[in-house]
Amino acid sequence: MKLTQMLGIDYPIIQGGMANISSPDLVVAVSEAGGLGVLATGGFSLEEIRENIRTCKAKSSKPFAVNVVLLHPEIDQLAQVIIDEKVDYITCGGGNPLPYFDQWTQAGIRVIPLVGNVKMAKKVEEKGAFACIFEGAEAGGHISSLHTMAELPAIVDAVTIPVISAGGIYTGRQILAAEALGAEGVQIGTKFLLAEECPIHQNYKNYLINSSDSDSLVTGAFYGHPVRVVKNRLTDQLQKLESQGALEEEFNAMVRGSGQRAAQEGETEWGSIFAGEGLAYLNKIQPAKEIIQDLMKDYDQAKLNLSSQC
Ligand SMILES: Cc1cc2nc3c(=O)[nH]c(=O)nc-3n(C[C@H](O)[C@H](O)[C@H](O)COP(=O)(O)O)c2cc1C
Repeated sequence: MKLTQMLGIDYPIIQGGMANISSPDLVVAVSEAGGLGVLATGGFSLEEIRENIRTCKAKSSKPFAVNVVLLHPEIDQLAQVIIDEKVDYITCGGGNPLPYFDQWTQAGIRVIPLVGNVKMAKKVEEKGAFACIFEGAEAGGHISSLHTMAELPAIVDAVTIPVISAGGIYTGRQILAAEALGAEGVQIGTKFLLAEECPIHQNYKNYLINSSDSDSLVTGAFYGHPVRVVKNRLTDQLQKLESQGALEEEFNAMVRGSGQRAAQEGETEWGSIFAGEGLAYLNKIQPAKEIIQDLMKDYDQAKLNLSSQC
């Protein structure tokens, strides 16, 4: 069965869970438009998460998922909240989901973990994953070192469950390319930052629109925690610390709280502007529904163009 049928959605588009950001307005807008909205847990308390799940259910009967950040400070309790609230789908990020698999799958929850390589993809398949997400290093936020073009097909070849491609998707052509590499769907984060329903500060949105392709960079690789962000005064300082081989504590002190500073307070020079590679495509704010419709229109056109070339 195709991933869209398995998930009960119209289009193979999953909105990536985004810490501190993907709350009910965005999630419901994406799910109502035929994609799969994904609620964030990173940056939210257990009570807020419970409330957000209930709000999504009250506002829409369409499927949605909850993104479980495995480094959440109350992960054991969070794992139980997801079960208590009878969530249908979980995506996972930021850590090892394997210890939680059995309790979730036994509760009938379909688990869609993030995998960074072939070995992990095989492990989660063995554990009963419903599908898995490979996130290439083009993606915004915390990334792995491998890129989509080389790694995605290797993961597709290694497992029989559907593979979702995340990172660097801004057009229908890129969805088609991911499909050609064997993915059954795509997960998109950065492009949805410019959705009207996305609750980040207007300054963040404007900063993305005014940035250019070469402003995308990775910080933290020196300390083994690479994060893709947009260049600003903070990244200049962080890169200086990395080139000087500064202690990780010093680096972390500068980064601490910077995501919230950007997303909530609109501090674009000293906040972390998480965003993926492909900034050239970020030029307007649109309703989530229009983003999905434009992507699918471009996808159909790209398919036609390709077949007319054959
Ligand atoms: C601002 C931001 C915050 C993110 N937070 C999370 C998160 O909390 N959990 C997670 O699994 N992935 C997170 N991601 C990754 C996205 O879910 C998604 O996989 C990624 O954005 C896809 O790549 P793209 O940004 O090129 O579209 C985040 C990405 C961004 C841009």
